[in-house]
Amino acid sequence: MPTITAPQTYRVKSFGCQMNVYDGERMAELLAEQGIAPAPEGEDADLVVLNTCHIREKAAEKVYSDIGRLRRADGSSPLIAVAGCVAQAEGSEIMRRAPAVKMVVGPQAYHRLPEMIREAGEGRRVTDTDMPAQTKFDALPRRRKSGPSAFLTVQEGCDKFCTYCVVPYTRGAEVSRPHAALVEEAKRLVDAGAREITLLGQNVNAWTGENAKGHSVGLEGLIRDLAAIPDLARIRYTTSHPNDMTQGLIDAHGDTPKLMPFLHLPVQAGSDRVLKAMNRSHTVDSYLAILERFRAARPDIALSGDFIVGFPGETDAEFEETLNVVDAARYAQCFSFKYSPRPGTPAATMDGQVPAEVMSERLTRLQAALMRDSLAFNARAVGKTCEVLVERKGKLPGQWVGKSPWLQSVHFSADAEIGQIVSVEITSSALTSLGAVPLAMLAA
Ligand code: 5AD
Ligand code: SF4
Repeated sequence: MPTITAPQTYRVKSFGCQMNVYDGERMAELLAEQGIAPAPEGEDADLVVLNTCHIREKAAEKVYSDIGRLRRADGSSPLIAVAGCVAQAEGSEIMRRAPAVKMVVGPQAYHRLPEMIREAGEGRRVTDTDMPAQTKFDALPRRRKSGPSAFLTVQEGCDKFCTYCVVPYTRGAEVSRPHAALVEEAKRLVDAGAREITLLGQNVNAWTGENAKGHSVGLEGLIRDLAAIPDLARIRYTTSHPNDMTQGLIDAHGDTPKLMPFLHLPVQAGSDRVLKAMNRSHTVDSYLAILERFRAARPDIALSGDFIVGFPGETDAEFEETLNVVDAARYAQCFSFKYSPRPGTPAATMDGQVPAEVMSERLTRLQAALMRDSLAFNARAVGKTCEVLVERKGKLPGQWVGKSPWLQSVHFSADAEIGQIVSVEITSSALTSLGAVPLAMLAA
């Protein structure tokens, strides 16, 4: 077997959800700790990690085209590792279809990458899709780098088994990381420059743990303890499940100023029959009642959700009910998808698969309604003042882009720097962004 020289440079490409982005960052830190440097922009890397997503068909198919695209002009390929949820679900298939792939590593096993790279260097092709009892978090290096807005995975996995979804199979059972480890990681992120932390979990509001006093607490307990970190300005969390919602978390939105006024709470469909077939175990009314409780605690809260159109058996009338939910919820922003049959999930073999053109037509109508509401939500911000956390430079000279408390992208021109919190007046709005002028400039 040929010996491949140890990689000097790496690139991690993450697809899919924010949890994958978090995993990608942790893999990068792990590789850096091994003395492997990030490949400079535009240059080939010796090692490429494709951190994949399996949630919908297109996401999974992308892996194979990406592998093809990594082939260099001279026919050689970098050392390729496929990580993430496609690796977990289709590891052996990837190894069969793509000889250029030398490593397949699942979302719960990536702390073993350094060892796998050594084995691959000896010419072996290695797969690790275990879900070991000792979690990867205990084996990963400490956080040393952060932008102004950081992700922190607090909970992983899913026990809900919605009939369309691969997550319970790719990410395993629901597991909460310990309170102390999370407070420690949050402090390190803040020391490294984070002003905002978004707590991540597939069912983030199912998080439970024991606080420093040994009391059992829910997500709001963790949020309150993180809010005590002096230089941390903002806390967010995503994604919540309606059935794990507690009054404690809702109340935290009323009394914890660092907790941002934003809630992402997927509903998926607007018909109780479809919700039942999806195994969602909430109804349209129980979902809308939760939104109203959040609005009572924090009247300005921005609401967000996810929708699937064309779940097997969904009729035209049932789809109309989805539009009714949109009208009732008055969302700030939403994600919406065509149903995609995922191999191994119960819905994939259900009767009444909806034709592609019907799904397309429903998605277009749904997105028009969601767009109408996003435009209206953003337009209501004009004339208001708010604080913006500066995240990056804008396209124009002197322009900066940051986030409002309601997660809108805000553009403004001023003397500022990344990580600063700037008070602005919103002066214009569009579908996905706002324009603003800093208050300091208005006063001058
Ligand atoms: N088809 C289409 N959309 C899906 N989602 C999850 N599984 C599927 C699927 N099989 C959507 C849901 C979920 C979001 C992350 O992706 O709306 O909330
Ligand atoms: Fe995609 Fe789900 Fe895996 Fe995230 S957890 S990468 S959304 S399949």
